[in-house]
Amino acid sequence: MRGRIVAGNWKMNKTFEEAEDLLYEIAESLTEEDLEKATVVICPPSPYLEMAHDVAKENGFYTGAQNMSNKESGAFTGEISAAMISSVGAAFVIVGHSERRAYFGETDELLCEKVEIALKNNLVPVFCCGERLEERNAGAHFAVVKKQVQTALFNLGDEDFSKVVIAYEPVWAIGTGVNATPEQAQEMHNFIRNLVAEKFGKKMAEEKIILYGGSCNATNASALFAQPDVDGGLIGGASLKASEFLGIIRGFDK
Ligand code: PGA
Repeated sequence: MRGRIVAGNWKMNKTFEEAEDLLYEIAESLTEEDLEKATVVICPPSPYLEMAHDVAKENGFYTGAQNMSNKESGAFTGEISAAMISSVGAAFVIVGHSERRAYFGETDELLCEKVEIALKNNLVPVFCCGERLEERNAGAHFAVVKKQVQTALFNLGDEDFSKVVIAYEPVWAIGTGVNATPEQAQEMHNFIRNLVAEKFGKKMAEEKIILYGGSCNATNASALFAQPDVDGGLIGGASLKASEFLGIIRGFDK
């Protein structure tokens, strides 16, 4: 069976103390059974990554950054490199979140560079793709996602690509309280898996972890995770409360 992941994307929320409290609350609530259901990842704001890793490593979960530079190092004031993220113990990095695309002009060409640098520094890129509402309404959602995935990921060799996690996050579902229906999620996840199969073969496609993100919560997670091609979630708002986040992990049957 391929892996399953539930990752919390805290975005730009929480002070250091609040973050520490939430991490301990999550750590104390996580059971062995939860950790068997899925790999649990927390992506706090970058200044807290080291502290978060200290808590995570003692409690069976992992940390990730929410973003990183497309450059290795040097005169790029304010940027954070893959090597820095890796050096504070993070194992994952979110690449191409729709908020980065919308507010910071990130393109798939740039994301392609980020994915490569992440992999070079032993970080697992969680590559986000997903259409905007007008694109879905125009029936362009498959074409949009196909282009995102192909441009950013399909230049990778087999070994590198095998390490990438894909997150389908329809923009209209992010932070809106309107999640994709399980059927909509399944349809797109299956489409993505087929794209992977065409390019990298059936085995790679069967093993590829594809997460769903967008208003996923403790109430709707189990129906989403029950879909054959949905391997977990990238969780925003609902990851800011321990009980809700734990409820999502428990959305997996077994
Ligand atoms: P949401 O965000 O769960 O708050 O909709 C998901 C995400 O942005 O990754």
